[in-house]
Amino acid sequence: MQGVDPAWLPDEAYRPIGTRRTLIRGSGPLVETVHGEVTQACVRFGGSVSFDGPAGPYDLVLELTGDGSSEAFTFERGDGRTTVTASGGPGLLYGLFHVVRLGEAAFRGSYEREEHRPELALRMLDHWDNVAVHPVMGQVERGYAGGSLFWQDERARGDLERVRAYGRLLAACGINAVAVNNVNVHGTEARLLTDRIGEVADIAGALRPYGIRAHLSVTFAAPVVLGGLETADPLDAGVREWWAEATARVYEAIPDFGGYVVKADSEGQPGPFAYGHSHADGANALAAALAPHGGIVHWRAFVYNHRQDWRDRRTDRARAAYDHFVPLDGEFASNAVLQVKHGPMDFQVREPVSPLIGAMPRTRLAVELQATQEYTGQQRHVCWLGPMWSGALRFRPEEGSPVGELARGGLVAVSNVGDDPFWTGHPLAQANLYTFGRLAWQPDADPDAVLDEWIRLTFPDAPQRLITGLHAVLDGSWATYEKYTAPLGVGFMVQPGHHYGPSVDGYEYSPWGTYHFADRDGIGVDRSVASGTGYAGQYAKPWAEVYESSETCPDELLLFFHHVPYGHVLKSGKTVIQHIYDTHFEGVAEVEEAREVWASLTDLVDPARHARVAERYEEQLRSAREWRDQINSYFLRKSGVPDAHGRRIY
Ligand code: GCU
Repeated sequence: MQGVDPAWLPDEAYRPIGTRRTLIRGSGPLVETVHGEVTQACVRFGGSVSFDGPAGPYDLVLELTGDGSSEAFTFERGDGRTTVTASGGPGLLYGLFHVVRLGEAAFRGSYEREEHRPELALRMLDHWDNVAVHPVMGQVERGYAGGSLFWQDERARGDLERVRAYGRLLAACGINAVAVNNVNVHGTEARLLTDRIGEVADIAGALRPYGIRAHLSVTFAAPVVLGGLETADPLDAGVREWWAEATARVYEAIPDFGGYVVKADSEGQPGPFAYGHSHADGANALAAALAPHGGIVHWRAFVYNHRQDWRDRRTDRARAAYDHFVPLDGEFASNAVLQVKHGPMDFQVREPVSPLIGAMPRTRLAVELQATQEYTGQQRHVCWLGPMWSGALRFRPEEGSPVGELARGGLVAVSNVGDDPFWTGHPLAQANLYTFGRLAWQPDADPDAVLDEWIRLTFPDAPQRLITGLHAVLDGSWATYEKYTAPLGVGFMVQPGHHYGPSVDGYEYSPWGTYHFADRDGIGVDRSVASGTGYAGQYAKPWAEVYESSETCPDELLLFFHHVPYGHVLKSGKTVIQHIYDTHFEGVAEVEEAREVWASLTDLVDPARHARVAERYEEQLRSAREWRDQINSYFLRKSGVPDAHGRRIY
């Protein structure tokens, strides 16, 4: 595609395959995709590909041994031949991408037979895309990469070549599901479920060759707004029938449709509360409609009071998901998946892991991450989220399984992609998308190794200086971002509405439940059981105890759990106030340094990509300085405590 960045599938990545002799065995649509991939590589690089040919001297054999839908594959190499086998089409495709990732290494030495399979069956991106441009949120809610890939001029794009290319990229990092519209379902978008399902079918058709299923966000009020019924009561027989019929028609249009995503009773969206019913009742009504077709409903747990009175100290937004959903454990249908944000608030740069995860053993949970950088620099700042996500996935709510295993309903990320030529606005934000896919495949993967993989694929044949430079600007970028923004887990302090840039008190007296409570003596939210909101008590041991006391609470979460005086001494040995000053100066210095590193790579990166990143570094630096100066000045003025190093604070 002209002018579109190849991201982690540049032509060059196929050279090791394209220069060799490949045999492909088996039949079916995904085998055709594999065949197409290899054929193109051979056309480019001079190798050969045979389809179901006789045994011969092949360097690579890709063999489908069954007709299932398994995503597993085996990989081995001996006697000068590399072999991938799979019993399902998706497995063969993932096996091919495994070979692409290995590059030349796939054709050297020998490998014992390895079995690969994804640890999580569902690896999904939620696109917060609107069909019609929303007056406030634009076309992509919280989107920082241009318009929607799927929707243009109030309908599905006619030319779906880009969508197909997107599916290819996603498959190459292991993603197998895409929700094509915003969880806030507005009027036009509601109709995708019924009279406009054909447009969803077109998109599904473009993604299917890459093993990706389409899902749809639907409004709980659909029986009323689309069906003309008087109620959307989930226990009403007519309502259930409406959902069953509507869903049957969806499957007529899209036989492999994945299912629904629902944001109900959340931030103004309709839900079962209006009828006096529970979220399990709501989810189960839709699950019942989907069940005969093998579909699932992803029911979001992002339910809280967004019209809180800031004077009310008993209500704690962090508690809300647990309080709403834990009592419903065991009541959800087996094809209803509860989709939980990884933290209890809203994708802040630092949050504890949601206590809901681990507390609902009889419910299928999916964990939701945010690739779109709403609160982490909006794709103007470099902020590689691999370490944060990996930390959440490796967290063990109690003795036993880590979050990555408890997420039996899958791993979901809010997409960071749009119709931008670099896909993600900031070219380096592609690393987040790639890392998400790979962590969804293997939640305990080492994020640094994943980043390295992304670098080597995206910048083929990169000299060591480029690899080192890319690691230098990406590895610690999340830590850097945290340093110059809201300190020690307290969160927010962003400009209301668009959430970009600092405003320490932007949400302090708002109804959203996001407060830091800074006064002249101290800062932080007391969420202890002993004297606060009791949130710490939602965790199992040992965490309930660890978080309960400011003595044992990890520094990085201190202000999330405790209100402490500015002179409180952290485990690092610094006072809270000095920590605030120091990290804000350091954060800006680190951005300055990263910008220099990037500038030094001019000769090694193609000019358009280099220029795009360079331009964003200017903005990141400006913004980081603004954060530093506003935060430091605010706390100097509140506390009256001077910086121990006498640096300039305003
Ligand atoms: C955040 C975000 C909203 C989004 C919501 C959600 O609050 O700012 O734009 O709709 O999350 O996850 O539903």
